[in-house]
Amino acid sequence: MKRRDGSVVQAIKSRLNLVDIARRYVELRRAGGRWMAPCPFHQETKPSFSINEEEGFFYCFGCQASGDLFDFYGRINGLDFRETLEQLAEEAGVALDDWKPDPRAQQEQSLRRQCLRMYDVARAHFVGNLAKREGQECRDYMQRRAIAPEIIESFELGWSLREWQSLADTLRRAGFAQGLAVKAGLLATSDSGRAYDRFRGRLIFPIKSLAGQVIAFGGRIIAEDDQAKYINSSDSPIYKKGDHLYGLYQARRAISQHKVAMLTEGYMDVLTLHQFGYNNAVGVLGTALTPEQVKRLSGFCSTVELLFDGDNAGRKAALRSCEMLLVRGMRCKVVLLPQGEDIDSLLHGAGRDAFESIRNEAPDGLDFCMRSLAAQAPRDMLDWTKGFLAQVEQPELLSYYITRLAGGLGLNEAELRDSLAERVKAHAAAPAKKPVARGHASRDREIMTFAVRYPHCLPQLQEAGADLVLGTEWARTLWDKIERHGAEEVVDHLSEREKTFWIRCRTGEVPPLDNEEGELAAVRHMLADMQLKVQSASCMAALRQQMGGVSDPAADIELLRALQETLGRSHE
Ligand code: UTP
Ligand code: MN
Repeated sequence: MKRRDGSVVQAIKSRLNLVDIARRYVELRRAGGRWMAPCPFHQETKPSFSINEEEGFFYCFGCQASGDLFDFYGRINGLDFRETLEQLAEEAGVALDDWKPDPRAQQEQSLRRQCLRMYDVARAHFVGNLAKREGQECRDYMQRRAIAPEIIESFELGWSLREWQSLADTLRRAGFAQGLAVKAGLLATSDSGRAYDRFRGRLIFPIKSLAGQVIAFGGRIIAEDDQAKYINSSDSPIYKKGDHLYGLYQARRAISQHKVAMLTEGYMDVLTLHQFGYNNAVGVLGTALTPEQVKRLSGFCSTVELLFDGDNAGRKAALRSCEMLLVRGMRCKVVLLPQGEDIDSLLHGAGRDAFESIRNEAPDGLDFCMRSLAAQAPRDMLDWTKGFLAQVEQPELLSYYITRLAGGLGLNEAELRDSLAERVKAHAAAPAKKPVARGHASRDREIMTFAVRYPHCLPQLQEAGADLVLGTEWARTLWDKIERHGAEEVVDHLSEREKTFWIRCRTGEVPPLDNEEGELAAVRHMLADMQLKVQSASCMAALRQQMGGVSDPAADIELLRALQETLGRSHE
C-alpha cells in the first residue's frame, strides 16, 4: 500500500473512528483504556486484538497484525489501498478530487464503482419484483421451500421476471450504458447484438462482499424445466468466482464470535442453516473451495465445519477441502449427510435434533482424511501424504502432521521424515530469525522506542546526545521524520515498516504511556553509560599511542587524569 496524499487520509481519519468501523466486524469489549476483541486476522480464541481509540491504531499481540483505519479496512475487506481509500472517503464524505491516481487505475476504479451501482440497482429491481403480481409464483415457491420472511429479508432474495428486457429497461432508465451492463454480467447479448436479461424467471440470491455491497447474483429456476438449475454471475470487474463465500457478510459476526464457520455447498443450505439458528453458515458458490476462500475464512475463525453430501463426489470434495484447511493449521470437522439428503431437506424434514446427532458424530478433519485414504491403494495414499506435507509451510506444523499421519496410516515415521528430508533440512538450515544484533542496533532501538513513545521529548533526547549516537540508517531516518513533522503529523509520513514499529511501541503489549520521566531517565542512563565507555576507550587508545611514541610527560599526566576521571565516574 502506498500513501499518496496525507491530507485526504488525514481528513478521512478525522471523520471516521476505527472503533466504530471495527465494531462491524468484531465484538469489541472495553478493557482499561483500550478496546479488545478476538483478532479477525488470525485464529485464536483469546481476545488478543486491541484498539487504541485515541491513537487510531489496532494491534494484535497474537499475530502481530497492526495498523490504522486504512490497514484494518483494506485487510478485512480484501481491498487494495486505492479501493480502501475510495470506500472510506465515500463513508466519510471526503472528496477525492485532489487525489490523482494514474488514469488507467482511475478508469478501472470508475468502472468498478459503476458496476457496484448497477448491481445495487439490480438488487432493488429483483427485490421489488417479488412484491409484484408477477412475483406470485416465486413467493409461492419460497413458501413451498419454507423460507422464513426474515431470511428473505436479510438475504435480500429477489425474483427476475420471465421477460427478456425487464432489468435491461430498469438499468437503461437508471442511466447505465448497455455495454457496461453486459460487461458487468447482468445482461447478455444475442448473436444479433441485442442485449437481454441474463436472469429470467429465477429466484435471485444476491452475493455480497464483506463490505455489504452486492457484487454478484445466483439465480435458481423455480419449476422443473430443462434449463440449468442455477446460474451464477460470471467474473466481472467487481467479482471473481472463488474469491467470495455466499452468506459471509451475514455470518461474519457469528463466525468471529464463535471462531467456527459452517461451510456448505448450496445457496439453499446456507439459508436454511441461518433459519435454524446456525448464523455462522456460509456457502462455496458452485465451485470447489478455493485458497482465497480459505484465506478469507481464516481471518475470522480457526475451525471450519464442512458439511458435504455423503456420496462419492461429496467425500472427494470434503477430502480436498480438509486438506486445504489443515495445511494452513486450521481445524476442521467433516459432517457427511445421509445419501439423498441435503441440509435443507434434513433440517426441514427430520429436524434439528436429527441434524445435531449427525453433527455430533462428525470426525475430525485429519481423521477423516486418514480414514478415506485407508480405502485407497497404498501408493495413492503415499502420494496424497507427500502432497499434503509438501503444502504445509510452518515447520512445527509439519512435524506434527508427520507424526500424526505416520501413526494413523501405519507408515514408518522415520522413513516418512527421510522422504521429506530435503525440505526438513532446508528448514533446519535456514535460521529461524535473524541473529539479534547487538551494539548499534539494540541501542538505536532503545532510543527510538522512547522517541516514538514520547515524541514531544525529542529535545530532551537530543540534549542527552541521542541523535548523535544513532548508528543505523532506519533509526536516523525515523528520527529525522519525527523532528521534521512533529509528534502530531509524523504518523502520516511513516513507511509501512516504520509504522509497524511505531504501533508496536505504543500499542499492544507495551507498558502504558504514563512513565515519561522514568523511561527518559533510563535512556539517559544508557546514553551516559555509553559515552563513558566511548571516552575511556579513546583515553586508552591515546594512552597506548603515547606509550608507543615519543614521551611527553605533560600529555601523559593529562591523559591519566582523564582516564581516572572517566573510570571513577563509571564506578559511581
Ligand atoms: P444442488 O444441486 O445441491 O442444489 O447444488 P441446492 O443448493 O441443494 O438447491 P436446491 O435445494 O435443489 O434448491 C449445490 C450448489 O451448487 C451450485 C449452487 O451454488 C448450488 O447451491 N450449482 C448447482 C450451480 O452453480 N449450478 C447448478 O446448475 C447446480
Ligand atoms: Mn437442496
